[in-house]
Amino acid sequence: MITIISGTNREGSNTLKLAQYYERQLSAKGYDAGLLPLTLLPDNFISSDLYGNRSEEFQILQDTITQTSKFIFIFPEYNGGFPGILKTFVDACKFPDSFYGKKAALVGLSSGKYGNVRGVEHFTGICHYINLHVLPLRIHIPAIHNEFDEEGNLFKEETKKFTEQQIEQFISF
Ligand SMILES: Cc1cc2nc3c(=O)[nH]c(=O)nc-3n(C[C@H](O)[C@H](O)[C@H](O)COP(=O)(O)O)c2cc1C
Repeated sequence: MITIISGTNREGSNTLKLAQYYERQLSAKGYDAGLLPLTLLPDNFISSDLYGNRSEEFQILQDTITQTSKFIFIFPEYNGGFPGILKTFVDACKFPDSFYGKKAALVGLSSGKYGNVRGVEHFTGICHYINLHVLPLRIHIPAIHNEFDEEGNLFKEETKKFTEQQIEQFISF
């Protein structure tokens, strides 16, 4: 099972838009990927789901993570790195079984010109720590506000080419 994690809980995020694009691309290739946006996290999850606590609300997300063998993490650049909410989510998931020995593709985006290079690099290190195998082709999309057409699809040839390559490689990873 493939799950796409949209790595911010900001409402109306470009990250979710991009995650939905990946979902559509996979669907067009016959892969029914699930979408797990961090907007689904319980409001009080910092107190309800860390350090051995578990709410019924979070358990639903945990079950999805447990059943997933391949993850696509899509996450924005916040203050030069990946969002704290994404690390807190990983910290809240059951360790080590949630991610151990599984596979991941990483996609970084930003409004600035670096496309979350540093955040993707840092998150790669964390993936290695939790024994999650990362697809070598990682994608960085800067100036994300210039990337979507009116239907929320990527339209620039180069961005389409690299994201397509990543999706193809991830399917056979
Ligand atoms: C808390 C916060 C910090 C941000 N820091 C950066 C940054 O360091 N570099 C950058 O290029 N954009 C930064 N941005 C802008 C995001 O990259 C931009 O909102 C982009 O659309 C991706 O984030 P989104 O998925 O929340 O829309 C920041 C946005 C927020 C909300």
